[in-house]
Amino acid sequence: MAKNYWIGDIHKGNFDGQEVELKGWIYRTRGSNKIHFLVLRDSTGVIQCVIKRDSVGDESFDLIKSSLIESSIILKGLVEVTDREHGYEIQVNNIEIIGAVNPDRPFPITESAMLEAEGGESEFLLDNRHLYLRTSRMTTMLKIRSTIFGTIHSYFRNQDFIEYQAPNFVAGAVEGGSTLFEVPYFGKKAYLTQSWQLYAEAAMPALERLYTIAPSFRAEKSRTRRHLTEFWHAEMEVAWASNEEIMKYGEGVVRATAKNLLEEREVELNDLGRDLELIARYADSKYPIMRYDEAVEILQGKGIDIDWGQDLDYSKEKILTADFDVPHFLTHYPRIAKPFYHRPDPEDPKYVLCHDLLAPEGYGEIIGGGERTWSEEEILERIDEEGTPREPYEFYIDTRRYGGVPHGGFGLGVDRVCAWLAGADHIREVIPFPRDSRRVTP
Ligand code: 4AD
Ligand code: MG
Repeated sequence: MAKNYWIGDIHKGNFDGQEVELKGWIYRTRGSNKIHFLVLRDSTGVIQCVIKRDSVGDESFDLIKSSLIESSIILKGLVEVTDREHGYEIQVNNIEIIGAVNPDRPFPITESAMLEAEGGESEFLLDNRHLYLRTSRMTTMLKIRSTIFGTIHSYFRNQDFIEYQAPNFVAGAVEGGSTLFEVPYFGKKAYLTQSWQLYAEAAMPALERLYTIAPSFRAEKSRTRRHLTEFWHAEMEVAWASNEEIMKYGEGVVRATAKNLLEEREVELNDLGRDLELIARYADSKYPIMRYDEAVEILQGKGIDIDWGQDLDYSKEKILTADFDVPHFLTHYPRIAKPFYHRPDPEDPKYVLCHDLLAPEGYGEIIGGGERTWSEEEILERIDEEGTPREPYEFYIDTRRYGGVPHGGFGLGVDRVCAWLAGADHIREVIPFPRDSRRVTP
């Protein structure tokens, strides 16, 4: 009985001359009436399989010869070293088609066919996303994504953070009302959460160090390269921590992510044409810190039209990050530019004790965080000055009446970090089924 292997194992291990069984999908085919070359794909790689009419018999040979790309098959054969670059191929002696491809489908789902169909960034590719997932570029992105999720979990867990879950149906905004998704809720209105933060702050006195990776929702009307309506949000909250201490965690998790990618996903980064030295720099460097005021001066110095007090949008971040070769923190934004939960700086309450982390190569904001307003008096003042109703936040205010302590945290856009480290042009490239204002299908 031939043992079953992953294609990746054949390329790694010493299986020369052994009989193996492989399961996968047809990636490419060519051949004559006597010999057929089939490149087989599984989740670990591709391998050339040689099928001779004489070895498999007429029936199997004719069937496989007429099979379309992406048909699923199981084959058995002998592993042979080739003089080609790829190292190994399989001399097939038995082959079985498991799932045929419907010939009525309008295109062969090869990478190039899909990309050629209507140009790379097309609706066609998005309409056929369920098939596009199988292309090598998307598979590579999904592997990188998995490593990034895994690294974030281990980074926090290794430092005794507790993973904590908050509700996704909520009564109020965290990041402003303009991007709230409203959902009917049994005769009332509810919203999809924009952030785990407020419910994490409620658990802060219980757990002190907590984190999550969960979806957040924003009704972003404009379609940009870095906005999704449903994105994956890694958030953390720590008791007793200052803005500077929280920034250390932000720098730590981003550096750990770059480092782990280099260790686990070098092949994939190379496939994407990523400069590994760049990723190594993100893993090894300290991330500089700049105040908001300084950033505004730099922008004004470049002739950009920006008034003090405005939040920095993407166009401005892009100009700022053009001069950076590692991620940069921006701190001390004006109080009027940030939501009520940000803590005013006791040294100058025009500012809040907050930070954004901006990724280089033009990617911009990947983290937003800071210290929280933690006294009852101050939180009420901030809510009222923002003109926000108190009612949905009663639970949040109440936590300040029972032993409030300084604390803070941040949110990291995981898809944005994936896009940046993978060098993707668009955030859509790194998530299997992207959601934006025009699309909830497939
Ligand atoms: O800066 P934001 O809005 O901060 C918060 O939500 C805080 N409550 C987080 C906290 O302190 N716990 O969002 C945090 C990060 C951004 O820096 C960005 O990376 C990402 O979430 N993000 C998005 N990513 C993709 N699509 C969107 N529409 C995003 N909105 C925010
Ligand atoms: Mg932000």
